Amino acid sequence: MKIILTTEQLAEGIDRLAAVVSRESDGKPLTVIGVLTGSIVVVADLIRRLDGPVNLNMVWASSYRGTATAAGRLELRLDLLPDLNGQDVLIVDDIFDTGRTLEALVAALRGRGAARVRSLVLLRKQGRAETALVPDFVGFDIPDVFVVGYGLDYDGQWRHLPYLAALDPAEIASHSGAQVSSHA
Ligand code: IMP
Ligand code: MG
Repeated sequence: MKIILTTEQLAEGIDRLAAVVSRESDGKPLTVIGVLTGSIVVVADLIRRLDGPVNLNMVWASSYRGTATAAGRLELRLDLLPDLNGQDVLIVDDIFDTGRTLEALVAALRGRGAARVRSLVLLRKQGRAETALVPDFVGFDIPDVFVVGYGLDYDGQWRHLPYLAALDPAEIASHSGAQVSSHA
């Protein structure tokens, strides 16, 4: 595994994101909605650096299946959400890859009456977007490699790494053989 972002760089990125979000929220209440499971580390670090009142909720989304690294069918579960009427919502996800997850979530949350829906991602992969949606806040632009750590997994593993690492295609191949996709 090759380290893409160190623990220190990640902490600086979170500080930078929290400062911009706090400045733009101007002390008004913010409803942070984290996307399970990958965003838990980002959410935990980010909310502790935000100024002003924060209401935290989680939704669940998945577009990856087992050992495949290509996006599969998107599944959303919004059943844990309270009424969002009139709220200023910030969706927080780990990574913007094709953007399909965030696009679907923004649409779904707008449909639940939120006054404003903005999105924040820690990472954005270069050259992968398949949607016109642009996240409002982006921590780091990274190359098109499959990354793990700081919440991100491969087949359920490596979420706990305190840094972000690129998974070597050979390491993926040793786990999944023929299921490796071209962008891995
Ligand atoms: P999108 O809908 O294609 O933007 O996919 C976003 C979701 O795919 C993220 O929330 C992650 O769960 C997952 N994902 C995308 N790229 C990676 C990666 O390099 N490592 C781990 N998970 C990823
Ligand atoms: Mg995810």
